[in-house]
Amino acid sequence: MSKAAAIFLAAEIINHPDTILGLATGSTPIGTYEELVRLYQAGILDFSKVRTFNLDEYLGLSPENEQSYRYFMNEHLFSHVNIPMENTHVPSGDEKEAEHSGEIYEQQMKEAGPISIQVLGLGHDGHIGFNEPADAFAKTTAPIALEESTIDANQRFFASREEVPKMAISMGIGTIMRAKKILLLVNGKEKAKILREVLEGPVTPSCPASILQFHPDCTLICDEEAASLLRK
Ligand code: GLP
Repeated sequence: MSKAAAIFLAAEIINHPDTILGLATGSTPIGTYEELVRLYQAGILDFSKVRTFNLDEYLGLSPENEQSYRYFMNEHLFSHVNIPMENTHVPSGDEKEAEHSGEIYEQQMKEAGPISIQVLGLGHDGHIGFNEPADAFAKTTAPIALEESTIDANQRFFASREEVPKMAISMGIGTIMRAKKILLLVNGKEKAKILREVLEGPVTPSCPASILQFHPDCTLICDEEAASLLRK
């Protein structure tokens, strides 16, 4: 699964060396990043002109904090390839700046040009980025309160539940839907039910990822366990 996802992204980097990639954190894409590092080390990929925008960040965690998504990205990808750090973007986790930094992030993306491929993982409640189930689809990058179930799910990365931030900043569903292509990565049997809801249920903000049914160019790479409940 990770190899297929890495090849999908590698093809884009080879075809368009100055591509703009949208990247995701979480455990699901770690193998994909490992494969990309391997392709770089083998001399197949050059990241020198690639630019990246990450989906989200916890509010209240500094880039040096090991649980921050900036730290995650440096650790799993950026520090191991020849991407200039100034080409990599992760929303600011500064709580006081949160309202404002969403606008700045949107502006940076607008100036860079459209994201060619947006990588997405899938939350257990159907969230993408940190877009939690809601009454409406969020349009742009903004602060968001995390669901208790998301805090529970992400607690495994922290020493205790109390340490998991309650707020995050995330690209909106509108931001994500503007990417030219989407690459959705889903694995494990605990994601089978929500994946069925995402692909075969109604399009609704109460299952944010269901909006991907309306994206004109969305590719799903999943394992058999995650696909086990799909009817089609
Ligand atoms: C977090 C991230 C999401 C990610 C999700 C699933 O909440 N904000 O971007 O997709 O977790 O994570 P995992 O891949 O570890 O299941």
